[in-house]
Amino acid sequence: MGIVAVGHDRDWLEVRFEDGTTQRYLGTWLRDNITTGRHRDAGQRTFDINSLPEMTIAGASLHADTVTVTFGPEGLDATFDAAWFCLHRPTSGTGRGVTPRPTLWGDEQQGSLEFADHPTLVCDPARLHDWLTGIRDLGFGLLENLPATPGSILEAVDLFGYVRETNYGRIFEVRDEPEPANLAFTRLEIGMHTDNPYRDPVPGLQILHCLVNESDGGDSRLADGFAVAERIRSDHPEAFQLLTTHPVWFRYLDGGSADLQAYKPLIQLDSRGQVTCVRYNSRSAQAFDMPADVMAGYYRAYRILGDLLHDPGARIEFRLEAGQLMAFDNQRVLHGRTAYTAGARHLQGCYVDKDSLHSRIRVLEAAR
Ligand SMILES: [Fe+2]
Repeated sequence: MGIVAVGHDRDWLEVRFEDGTTQRYLGTWLRDNITTGRHRDAGQRTFDINSLPEMTIAGASLHADTVTVTFGPEGLDATFDAAWFCLHRPTSGTGRGVTPRPTLWGDEQQGSLEFADHPTLVCDPARLHDWLTGIRDLGFGLLENLPATPGSILEAVDLFGYVRETNYGRIFEVRDEPEPANLAFTRLEIGMHTDNPYRDPVPGLQILHCLVNESDGGDSRLADGFAVAERIRSDHPEAFQLLTTHPVWFRYLDGGSADLQAYKPLIQLDSRGQVTCVRYNSRSAQAFDMPADVMAGYYRAYRILGDLLHDPGARIEFRLEAGQLMAFDNQRVLHGRTAYTAGARHLQGCYVDKDSLHSRIRVLEAAR
């Protein structure tokens, strides 16, 4: 869209576009973002704002669709074109470069479960993009036709990211063990939870790949923690307030080898009030540490959260067969499993940082 007029005072540039709208741009912000202030190849800014004097707008003129601004006291001229002004119209703070709002779900999602074909994703960028955006928007994705062999989980990770190695190793095993260090390594039912709330940052994505499933039971469950958080926000505002403001202490202590701790609210919000992380893991939560007059209300809120996360109406349930895999957002989607009584069941798991998922989606979109 073209520009029809510009005006300025000491601090502000006013731009009138051909659609009749006008927009004001702060002079300091314009000076901070001159195109020659970035390295030609690296694209990174070459100065810090504190290295510049307090600046003013000494002049502004329009030539075709290009605006030349003169900054005082430097006497520096810089040009900006109409497309740049349109691209950088100040927003109401909704943010640029951030991921889309999540698509919230409950048990109705059960009817839409689909396993993507791994060999197809390897060679088809469009299908890979669809699968990755599903993980981004829904918080989980399912994959099949991976080799049911140890380590082949890494072939799925290679589609979009890098393993986040922890003290559990690059890959961890989930199967029943004679002397389990974790309830996951038994045949017991595992309640809905997020993994590793005692880490900071908590692992972004979790991948679980089934190598063997000859068990009777052992079905996987997922629930959308963001959907549950929004339900609490609307139906139980007092509980929401408590769960978002009072941190809980999580800890994992393993002999002399690890003492991992984090002190975070169970529902975490960003500066705009959007839910960014849900932590729920009764196994690693420590004694709550909060004011005595808050404790009773907090426990009511905690029970509401637990009830909703375990509500069958909030979850999907499916069976992972050998060669199948689920990837889910461990900062959003809770997982659990039904008990199993007989037969071998062996999964391999790993964690992956979420930023590489978002990066891969953007790269695939740019290459279209
Ligand atoms: Fe887990």
